[in-house]
Amino acid sequence: MLVEPPKCLTKPLFVPNKLLMGPGPSNCSPRVLQAMSQQTLGHLHTETTYIMDEIKEGIKYIFQTRNTLTLCVSAAGHAAIEAVMCNLLEPGDVVLIAVNGIWGDRASDMAERYGAIVRQIRTEPGNNFTLKQIEEGLVKYKPVLFFIIQGESSTGCYQPLEHLGDLCHRYNCLLGVDTVASLGSVPVKMDEWNIDAIYTGSQKCLSAPPGITPMSFSKKAEKKIFSRKTPVKVYYLDMKLLGDYWNCFGKPRIYHHTVSATLLYGLREALAIFCEEGIDNSIRRHQTCARKLYEGLDRLGMQFLIRDVNKRLPTVTTIAVPDFVNWRDVVEYAMKTYYFEISGGLGPTAGKVFRIGLMGYNATLDNVDYTLRIFEESLNYGRSKFKASKL
Ligand code: GLV
Repeated sequence: MLVEPPKCLTKPLFVPNKLLMGPGPSNCSPRVLQAMSQQTLGHLHTETTYIMDEIKEGIKYIFQTRNTLTLCVSAAGHAAIEAVMCNLLEPGDVVLIAVNGIWGDRASDMAERYGAIVRQIRTEPGNNFTLKQIEEGLVKYKPVLFFIIQGESSTGCYQPLEHLGDLCHRYNCLLGVDTVASLGSVPVKMDEWNIDAIYTGSQKCLSAPPGITPMSFSKKAEKKIFSRKTPVKVYYLDMKLLGDYWNCFGKPRIYHHTVSATLLYGLREALAIFCEEGIDNSIRRHQTCARKLYEGLDRLGMQFLIRDVNKRLPTVTTIAVPDFVNWRDVVEYAMKTYYFEISGGLGPTAGKVFRIGLMGYNATLDNVDYTLRIFEESLNYGRSKFKASKL
């Protein structure tokens, strides 16, 4: 044998039970795990396609849309950004992207790879955009697509979306929105707000595993996709083909790829749980937990990256790293001692903040108390270690 069976695979699989209180993924509920433990099915079996139809109905509810082009991409949220860009842009098209953290920059990188001309409006990490700033960008750059992130998980900033669709349409531009880290904790009203392309993360407030990403496209977006002069560059993400597989156009299903039945079960159950709670209750729960977390962090004397509470995303709280600790010591202590995830910063906030997540199944008042206890203990550990290193 050129390569022998590896020794590591002779040991039992090891998966510790961690509490994921970072910016995602969140823990799956036992009901989702149970659903995913069922036997796999074929990608075109009647039972599978029935589950796909149920998932589409669930996605329409979470996005508050009646769009027929509503489905999942079989990949993590990153693929949904790619899908927006590669379906709605053709080489030479101008796209305007709002950048106030890592995700706007990442979307810009992706759009450029599809040959689009990328223009940006930028504001400092932790701030959001006004309609006026966005309108100025639309006037200046005349984009065919404007793309914005409702919940910047790298900074914990919330972006209101009301009136944005109408504004974009007035300038003949489609609106694409990322709700990966926000949906379930703040309102999302795709049809009422005239959003043309949207997606969310399965692994955040829905508490399903990552790897299957809900998306929806408006009729305007669909028209753009069907009138493209060039084919979508990525076969796997081509909405005309995927829409056929997900039966979005009222035609017989056509095989596109082998969807993971297991992930479908998990997402289906996560959507069922979300629907049972209801959007408003989910938002209320996340916001109540976030307020309790802010109060506790205030008591600990922490400084928030975002001072204005109205600009804070309930799901991701960003706390400035105090100058008496090394952030890594704090997160490592929590992980090693308690299998507890607190996260450091990302992109522009790397090394500058801690990020505490309150998402889906994990967003409970008990978990907030537990998080505050562990965070305080980990900070104390970090402080003594830092002090000792200075002696
Ligand atoms: C991922 O979404 C992150 O913000 O770390």
